[in-house]
Amino acid sequence: MKSIEEKIQDLKRERGAIIIAHNYQPDEVQAIADFTGDSLELSRKAAELDEEVVVFCGVHFMAETAAILSPEKTILLPDPFAGCPMADMITAEQLRAKKAEHPGAVAITYVNSSAETKAECDLCCTSSNAIAIVESVPADQEIIFVPDTHLGHYVQEKLGREMIIWDGYCPTHSRIRDVDILREKSAHPNAVVMAHPECPLNIRELADELLSTGQMCAFAKESDATEFIVATEIGLLYRLRNENPGKKFYAVSDRAVCPNMKKIDVEKVLWALEDMQHRVVVPEEIANKARRSITAMLELS
Ligand code: 13P
Ligand code: SF4
Repeated sequence: MKSIEEKIQDLKRERGAIIIAHNYQPDEVQAIADFTGDSLELSRKAAELDEEVVVFCGVHFMAETAAILSPEKTILLPDPFAGCPMADMITAEQLRAKKAEHPGAVAITYVNSSAETKAECDLCCTSSNAIAIVESVPADQEIIFVPDTHLGHYVQEKLGREMIIWDGYCPTHSRIRDVDILREKSAHPNAVVMAHPECPLNIRELADELLSTGQMCAFAKESDATEFIVATEIGLLYRLRNENPGKKFYAVSDRAVCPNMKKIDVEKVLWALEDMQHRVVVPEEIANKARRSITAMLELS
């Protein structure tokens, strides 16, 4: 009898499909993926797909971004309930009200947002290019930054540039405590602390490096250091360990688990290919507007 993984490979060929996965996906899903990456890498991949069918192993806004960039392709999200609570912390209506309070402000949204929110924005960004995207806005223009307060404040501190920042946050990164980092630092005094900019200020202050998940992978590979404390969702450890067998990686907290990322498993990937479900489609009018902010980001980074 064929294993689930073998059935997936057969069906993938039959359907002309590709499986792409975010760095926070469960190990077993990353193991069967054709491409794994951070939000920016996944957006780039989604913009240049050869395959007709994409099984997107991640959360809803990521599949939506792929559907916006490649509307002619079939984008499947194996679990339709895999959402991102941070993305749901702002609605397009709330953003419109904020824009009305600040006419002329440039609206920038973190990619962790709905298609409707992106459609209301001038620019999109990810954690790996947020600084460059904000820097691209002329200094005399006001900026509204949504929805992540921590990423927004990180960019604001880095550039010394005031922004109007929404108060959304990632519940998973908010579970990381300073005592977790201090404990790991005293256990591994030579380790470099890599933290994600979605972490709150008290965690960012304890980090040696603030990096997106893709940047963490590149940094760990290039660094002379051999030990790393990783302050982000624990799924990233799979890739870090696979790509750097001679180096040691310590998860800062086993509470840093994104339950939505973990809704995807290999069975659901198989069912997605068997039944061609759950298709993510963005209404054309919204997609056309949202595409402008994402394409502007891809051109700038
Ligand atoms: P990156 O992979 O872009 O670092 O984003 C992290 C994240 O929280 C995605 O939801
Ligand atoms: Fe959203 Fe945080 Fe999960 Fe990323 S890790 S999908 S920001 S809840």
